Amino acid sequence: MFKLSLVLVFLIALSGIDASPAKPHNPSCSGNLSATDVDLVHLAMNMEFTEVEFFLKASTGKGLDAFNATLAKGGPPPIGAKKANLDPITNRIIEEFAYQEIGHLRAIADMTGGIPRPLLNLTRENFAMFMDRAVGRRSNPRFDPYANSLNYLLAAYYIPYVGLTGYVGAIPYLVYFNIKRLVAGLLGVESGQDGVIRTLLYERQDETVKEYGGVTVAELTNEISILRNELGMCGIKDEGLCVPPWLGAENRTTSNILSANPYSLSYDRTPQEILRVMYGTGNERWPGGFWPCGANGRIARMFLDERYHCNYDTCSDGKN
Ligand SMILES: *[C@@H]1O[C@H](CO)[C@@H](O)[C@H](O)[C@H]1NC(C)=O
Ligand SMILES: *[C@@H]1O[C@H](CO)[C@@H](O)[C@H](O)[C@H]1NC(C)=O
Ligand SMILES: *[C@@H]1O[C@H](CO)[C@@H](O)[C@H](O)[C@H]1NC(C)=O
Ligand SMILES: *[C@@H]1O[C@H](CO)[C@@H](O)[C@H](O)[C@H]1NC(C)=O
Repeated sequence: MFKLSLVLVFLIALSGIDASPAKPHNPSCSGNLSATDVDLVHLAMNMEFTEVEFFLKASTGKGLDAFNATLAKGGPPPIGAKKANLDPITNRIIEEFAYQEIGHLRAIADMTGGIPRPLLNLTRENFAMFMDRAVGRRSNPRFDPYANSLNYLLAAYYIPYVGLTGYVGAIPYLVYFNIKRLVAGLLGVESGQDGVIRTLLYERQDETVKEYGGVTVAELTNEISILRNELGMCGIKDEGLCVPPWLGAENRTTSNILSANPYSLSYDRTPQEILRVMYGTGNERWPGGFWPCGANGRIARMFLDERYHCNYDTCSDGKN
């Protein structure tokens, strides 16, 4: 029954309002790429840039460049991020997360030199587009991640978790001690952030999200997770806050504050899955979504379809 409703949500999402390009027929689910440790960390840096801008701007009203002007390495400023209307505790939490992300970027930059910040689409329209696809209908009024704490946390549900699964996927392929130590440290804090965001949402699981009529917070998280599984195209890597017991810890819970596999180990994602999810296209070759000009670094550029090798002016609708 639950599986059937999963399938139905998939179909609704597929037939949804914002039609995505056709999916590739044989998506790879192997993380075994010819990539160096540094390449893998650079892919993750795209996630860290996304998080830092989303958290910093929402909590302080300022972006990364106001705190450290060199980390972006000349990449364009993000589009659409802004101060969110957060309650004081949520603001405090997100501000701390934001500074942690600056630290993560510094750690990666110091060790590997880093990559330019990709163009980031953090507009309310982009979040509304993902949410609408997850739910299968258009929000009314339009979903605005910056409008209040609940909406912001729902939007934040999108971000650190994807980074977390990417780190879990990358670690087995790392060779060098220093990079393993770096990525282990990144993973620890990233998963902590995800756990906090999910706990705050869990406490509000029964509230309805007014932009989607009667849909509850718990249902919306399930729908977001289903959308990400659908875009990633490699099975279940993502679970919402309330699940049937067969997805709960040891088949004993329906609460699902942390998303994990039948052994309660974190799910992993390959670089291709990360790109499919963050592009929102289900295809690592076709950019869009949060990264409209594509992600940066050797792995992302290796996959990017030549037709989408664009400069930022042709890709964005104005530089800010
Ligand atoms: C990854 O691919 C290489 C080259 O094809 C192979 O030698 C290696 O065993 C593979 N590793 C894993 C974990 O599959
Ligand atoms: C920005 O980060 C780099 C890398 O860690 C560091 O060397 C630099 O001092 C930082 N700049 C500021 C203004 O904090
Ligand atoms: C949970 O249930 C599934 C069947 O739905 C079963 O395959 C699995 O072994 C169970 N896990 C535990 C820990 O009992
Ligand atoms: C950002 O996303 C929205 C919603 O999909 C889209 O309308 C807009 O064109 C995007 N901006 C860029 C620069 O890609």
